[in-house]
Amino acid sequence: MSLFVIFGATGDLVSRKLMPALYSLHCLNKMGAESKIIGVGRTKQTGQQYRDKMSESLQKECPDHWDDFVNLIDYQSIDIKDPKNFMNLLPKLGENYKKEDIIFYLAIPPQGYKQVSDGLVYAKLNQHSHGGRRLVIEKPFGFDLQSAKDLNNHLHNHWDEEQIYRIDHYLGKETVQNLLVFRFGNEIFESLWNRRYVDYIEISSAEDISVANRAAYFDRAGTIRDMVQNHLLQVLAMVTLEPPNNFNALSVRNETVKVLQNLRPWTEESLKENVILGQYASNQLGEKKILGYHEEAGIAPNSRTETFAAMKFFIDNSRWTGVPIYLRVGKRLPHRVTEVIVHFHKTPHPAFKINSKEGNMLVIRIQPDEGILLKFIMKKPGNGFETTNVNMDFHYQDLKENFRTNAYERLLMDALIGDATLYARSDAVEQCWKFVDPILQWRDSGKAPIHQYKAGSWGPEEADKLVEKQGHQWRYPCRNLSDEENYCSL
Ligand SMILES: NC(=O)c1ccc[n+]([C@@H]2O[C@H](COP(=O)([O-])OP(=O)(O)OC[C@H]3O[C@@H](n4cnc5c(N)ncnc54)[C@H](OP(=O)(O)O)[C@@H]3O)[C@@H](O)[C@H]2O)c1
Repeated sequence: MSLFVIFGATGDLVSRKLMPALYSLHCLNKMGAESKIIGVGRTKQTGQQYRDKMSESLQKECPDHWDDFVNLIDYQSIDIKDPKNFMNLLPKLGENYKKEDIIFYLAIPPQGYKQVSDGLVYAKLNQHSHGGRRLVIEKPFGFDLQSAKDLNNHLHNHWDEEQIYRIDHYLGKETVQNLLVFRFGNEIFESLWNRRYVDYIEISSAEDISVANRAAYFDRAGTIRDMVQNHLLQVLAMVTLEPPNNFNALSVRNETVKVLQNLRPWTEESLKENVILGQYASNQLGEKKILGYHEEAGIAPNSRTETFAAMKFFIDNSRWTGVPIYLRVGKRLPHRVTEVIVHFHKTPHPAFKINSKEGNMLVIRIQPDEGILLKFIMKKPGNGFETTNVNMDFHYQDLKENFRTNAYERLLMDALIGDATLYARSDAVEQCWKFVDPILQWRDSGKAPIHQYKAGSWGPEEADKLVEKQGHQWRYPCRNLSDEENYCSL
């Protein structure tokens, strides 16, 4: 039996992601029949009222199990600002709660993380005797390096690091975990996975949507805090880390932090040369007028928050020295896609002419149309030795096994069994902040130009120049992995 106590139970994340993931685990018989889910919010309501709301909002993916599932759910109203209020939680946990594993999930605004920790400590719910006590903390973990350190220190006063699970839902994605298996299970790739054979690495993460209903949050955060500090640096670590001893939490997280420590620190000069920040501007796409960032509701007219970032940087270790890493991320780009592209060196002296755009490239598609694509050069049939690039591809959707894309399901399962491998450790989180802090300070100093780009384009032209001056190119991915033409238009 496990107890889930979800703070922020009346919020958006819980109704859209967490509760559906728990329901899905229940449908798969992965939660014990005796488990309990206790939603905690400020709103005053009864357990029955909360269950009714969940019944209205959740899709019944396995209707036969719904009644059993909904009966696991209860609700307690607590204002987290006063630690004494946490005593009200105890009767809900049942008589034997001391013997049970309890997962406290913090799906609340980040300023509440310390308050919930303090309240749980007050009610002695951080102490484990028979059952484990785990604290799952949503992003953002800190607002900069100093605040992340403060939060870590605060939590470490009363919780062991092993009890703290900092969630990064990218690490729950099957395709991100597969990076490790793909690299370390296939010697044909692992032996090429270094500076001798790799020309450059590209990580692109595009969203076609605007800031939508998250304007207030986004305008305070920006793309670097929202995407780079956490998700994309974690993906980068999976692409570049050294082989762990084994796949347990200690080994994988040790290697993760080591590679993050090797990121070359920024200087004023390298920021100017290698970081491009942008904001989307209005555009007319067919019949549709797309608003610019400054025209969105809730965005200050003089906001300098970046909706786009492109950067070039290096990892200073023997495997990757001299290999540029390009990272590009933004909103209001042509479509939603996240992929890692490993560009291999060109043949030093081909006896025939190869188009400069052609070359060996391995595309690892994180989402959508999850899969892996290898591009290689082939002779065009016919006279002479004309060449062309062709595809060898694997799509997860072709697997016979049920490919589940829900990262929250996987991560909740891991928290349930106490496996923290796919959760970020305190030192890795701080290392990521250490890397992005100088970019944020440069932006906030007013010295960083904020380039405009048309909504629906691939970002400001300065981002193209950043890679082209090196003789490199971004891949402009289509909606499907194999770039079939009808998936490429807007
Ligand atoms: N939404 C997403 O897609 C998303 C994605 C990634 C990460 N996150 C992170 O997840 C967390 C929650 O996000 P959200 O979008 O779900 O926020 P939200 O919709 O604003 O919900 C906030 C929740 O916190 C509760 N809360 C606020 N102050 C409280 C207090 N003093 N005492 C008790 N409960 C209090 C609210 O309860 P009442 O409504 O009852 O007042 C509500 O349940 C944030 O840290 C966010 O950064 C969200």
